[in-house]
Amino acid sequence: MSDNIESHLSENRVFKPSKEFSKNARIKSMAQYKRMHKESIEKPGVFWAREAKELTWQKKWTKPLDWKAPYAKWFVGGKLNVCENCVDRHLTNGRANKAAIIWEGEPGESRNLTYRQLHREVCQFANVLLAQGIKSKDRVLIYMPMVPEAVIAMLACARIGAVHSVVFGGFSAESIVDRLSDCKAKAVVTADGGYRRGGVVPLKANVDEALKKYKAVDTVIVHQRIGDKIPMKRGRDVYWHDEAAKVSAKHEAKAFDSEHPLFILYTSGSTGKPKGILHTSGGYLTSTYSTCKYIFDMQDDDVYWCTADVGWVTGHSYITYGPLANGVTQVMYEGAPNHPDFGRFWDIVEKYSVTIFYTAPTAIRAFIKAGDQFPDSRDLSSLRLLGTVGEPINPEAWMWYHEKIGGGRCPIVDTWWQTETGAIMISPLPGCTPTKPGTATLPFFGVDAAILDETGEECGPNEGGKLVIRKPWPSMLRSIYGDKKRYRDTYWNDYTGMYTAGDGARTDKQGNFWIVGRLDDVLNVSGHRLGTAEVESALVEHKAVAESAVVGRPHEIKGQGVVAFVTVKGNVKTSDALAKELRNHVGKVIGAIAKPDEIHFTPSLPKTRSGKIMRRLLKELVATGGISGNITTLEDYSVIADLQKNLKK
Ligand code: WTA
Repeated sequence: MSDNIESHLSENRVFKPSKEFSKNARIKSMAQYKRMHKESIEKPGVFWAREAKELTWQKKWTKPLDWKAPYAKWFVGGKLNVCENCVDRHLTNGRANKAAIIWEGEPGESRNLTYRQLHREVCQFANVLLAQGIKSKDRVLIYMPMVPEAVIAMLACARIGAVHSVVFGGFSAESIVDRLSDCKAKAVVTADGGYRRGGVVPLKANVDEALKKYKAVDTVIVHQRIGDKIPMKRGRDVYWHDEAAKVSAKHEAKAFDSEHPLFILYTSGSTGKPKGILHTSGGYLTSTYSTCKYIFDMQDDDVYWCTADVGWVTGHSYITYGPLANGVTQVMYEGAPNHPDFGRFWDIVEKYSVTIFYTAPTAIRAFIKAGDQFPDSRDLSSLRLLGTVGEPINPEAWMWYHEKIGGGRCPIVDTWWQTETGAIMISPLPGCTPTKPGTATLPFFGVDAAILDETGEECGPNEGGKLVIRKPWPSMLRSIYGDKKRYRDTYWNDYTGMYTAGDGARTDKQGNFWIVGRLDDVLNVSGHRLGTAEVESALVEHKAVAESAVVGRPHEIKGQGVVAFVTVKGNVKTSDALAKELRNHVGKVIGAIAKPDEIHFTPSLPKTRSGKIMRRLLKELVATGGISGNITTLEDYSVIADLQKNLKK
């Protein structure tokens, strides 16, 4: 159907879990998976109620699901405290003195927090937030390095019913402004900085810059990570440790409705404005809890490590909420994978005897490039399970991960999901699913996934189409914050009553899902979603730029690289210096991940007669150097010839 969809039919290698792994796993056989999956689809209420019952509810729900498409309510009438489930309940189930977070800073220091200590810290910070006047449903923006305080701040918000919106520490001051003004946050929690690749990321300075433009924030709470003297605005900025010293470390977790908002997380779509994805409490916690239990097969003696940043959804669901709800011990690392060299991750695995390791294909490709000497010289024998997320994993990277990191013995769970889905949707179950390099395999319990063609018919094996989810699931997004129309238009408009993911995919004869990539104007750069329109609008903000078009091109490490075509204003001279300036400008407006890898100046862009930029042509041009598709709708043919010449230079 779409030219984005191509089929990779060549992968036939199949890897089954070892008997030993299956014997100890939660789901031990395909028969068990199929039985449970069938029940979860036919009787979702029964299945999910059983999962939810493993959590602590202060008031039981009356009905598992209320579904009026596209609006779902899960565990209707139920009341719980999400933070209590992640922290307090482990104080009475034998885990009080178990390590919850083993943290390692980039410079090398480490710190352990038991569940009891985590509880104390979270209660105290909840009291700090209350003392600053934060109330239930108030929005709190969190802009933090990868330190335990990031997780503590999230949990403390959840504890008092405040809604957090975490902004990735690599985003710029302007990105903070956009998010602050969309969610109208009352307070910001940040740090004086964080260590990354040997340098300090000036988080508080970025917040200060953002707050020059967005003035409705009353309080900035600053965690002191670095200790340098930084400007603090009187009456607005306070230090975390000063305020903590003034309040009690006791706090009773009050129950909130199952549909109480838990967080807003911004993600890219096909327009320039990021979408505030809204997640709520009971359903989200149930799905993240349950996916950790079955997909990561979390057991009490595991040491789990997810290398994502808390600023992305993976950090929300698989650092903060899911793992802690399971009472697991997890490793958290502040810095870069290549600091001081590409052996850092493997040093951490060896040092803390990590058993479950969850990372991104882009990182794996960077490790392959760095050389085998790094993993080869470390003892990785503690590992028993590996995972990936963020983009399709190329079979070569899968095989390397399997052999070099997993020693050929660890199952790999390639997990497909999205900010919107809240939790993993398609993934192998490590104790039973036969895996093939490159496929996320089969839907998780309760997930009714399908591939449909343009007319709504289900595609046959190896026919490319659109990935949809046909039934609601507990951790589904509830809306786009403040924009129900955009919510309905973006996700529920293609087929009646079904969620469209925006990804192209196919299934093979065994029913495995092969995700090909985005069908909309969204790039996947190092596993991070980036709207082409966001980068374009950043570029045209620059005074030299008249117009721009941004497309992705295959990139060896990042998966996709960002390529920008730029038309400058009449009197502007193009130069390498201007290209550099534009790259930095995009970095300043959005963040370093959005900086174009290439900028091509062009006198005009290929357009249809109605004036629409034909990105399809640009995409093909950068990928192959030529154009093979239909160009009859193109207004001016010479543009393409010029661009081709330009790219060859
Ligand atoms: C892509 C990240 C293939 C996909 C959790 C999706 C994947 C987008 C996979 C969501 C995977 C994520 N295989 N593609 N295992 N995981 N994707 O919202 O295009 O940052 O739509 O959530 O990443 O990105 P997001």
